[in-house]
Amino acid sequence: MDAITIRPMVAADLPAVLALEARCFPVPWTREHFLAELQSSLAFPRVATAGAGIVVGYLCAMLVLDEGQILNVAVDPDFRGRGIGRQLLTQVLAEFHQRRASFVALEVRWSNRAAISLYAGCGFRDVGRRKAYYHDGEDALLMEYDMQQYREGYNAV
Ligand SMILES: CC(C)(COP(=O)(O)OP(=O)(O)OC[C@H]1O[C@@H](n2cnc3c(N)ncnc32)[C@H](O)[C@@H]1OP(=O)(O)O)[C@@H](O)C(=O)NCCC(=O)NCCS
Repeated sequence: MDAITIRPMVAADLPAVLALEARCFPVPWTREHFLAELQSSLAFPRVATAGAGIVVGYLCAMLVLDEGQILNVAVDPDFRGRGIGRQLLTQVLAEFHQRRASFVALEVRWSNRAAISLYAGCGFRDVGRRKAYYHDGEDALLMEYDMQQYREGYNAV
């Protein structure tokens, strides 16, 4: 497989990111959502590219004071199962470490075994359940990564 590059998302990525978002989620983020990420000084969205620069995944991360958040992550269905999701998450955890986050939190659909397994494999642990968090009534699993683990050398790579 082509080498994967992880780099900051830029406005020129939006058509590819929006097309991928529409393939990956029943209620996709809009252009405005992604633009807000690009314009926020607190956010640091990243894309994964393959080959001649084709966007095959992305991850939206944000740091407010010392509290990190993973807001969105997706990998092109044709490129899944090749470690790209883990590469994105590992890179972003390294950046959270550089930016002195204390912990990183996220919500994930209760039934999303692939994503939960990805997060758990990178060191996130279950911290709660939010009832009917999603528009269709599905619960969210709340997960957290304590950056102390990172400082002690625990990460996915
Ligand atoms: C979740 C997602 C980002 C994973 O991306 P990916 O590139 O396929 O993941 P990776 O290849 O890096 O896999 C890393 C780990 O994730 C888990 N995983 C990935 N796909 C899985 C699947 N279909 N079933 C179970 N576990 C899975 C495994 O633990 C895997 O580790 P392993 O290879 O050692 O078994 C991808 O499935 C996706 O885009 N899903 C749709 C969007 C989504 O649900 N995003 C999460 C919103 S919270």
